[in-house]
Amino acid sequence: MEYKGPGRVVDFGDLNPDEQFLIKEAVEARKFAYCPYSKFAVGAAIRTADNIVYRGCNVESSVYTPSVCAERTAVCKAVSEGQRKIISVAVIAYQGDAFTSPCGVCRQVLSEFGGSKLQIYMTKPESTDVLCVSLEELLPLAFSHEYLLNNTQ
Ligand code: THU
Repeated sequence: MEYKGPGRVVDFGDLNPDEQFLIKEAVEARKFAYCPYSKFAVGAAIRTADNIVYRGCNVESSVYTPSVCAERTAVCKAVSEGQRKIISVAVIAYQGDAFTSPCGVCRQVLSEFGGSKLQIYMTKPESTDVLCVSLEELLPLAFSHEYLLNNTQ
């Protein structure tokens, strides 16, 4: 696969055990994806600063708009358990030759709890090619909650 976007493609075997574990957790999470409308199953796993891993899958609705991506499912699970600092995310989907990248809404939510250095790993269920990018590379000039504090006009 020829990839020319941000980040770098590495071999699964060259990742450290924590990174490999996160990807395996996301592969497991994908098995629970509820996606009868898109038929596009996604699994995610996030690691918090306290070193806890939360899984998430996409959960769709027949009304379509309430559908939630795998990444945000995992983030909501973490935050609702008191974990507000996310350091890494793995995303698993099967999309032909491309890597499945978090959508714009998920990028913004990840930046809320992760910050620019958050690491993102994307791969397919049985692929050894893993795309590693930072959130900063995916969402330059992210809107920050600090902007809200500086609004004095
Ligand atoms: N989806 C995710 O869960 N994460 C992504 O990174 C991309 C898209 C879901 C949303 C929807 O259920 C399906 O994939 C098709 O867009």
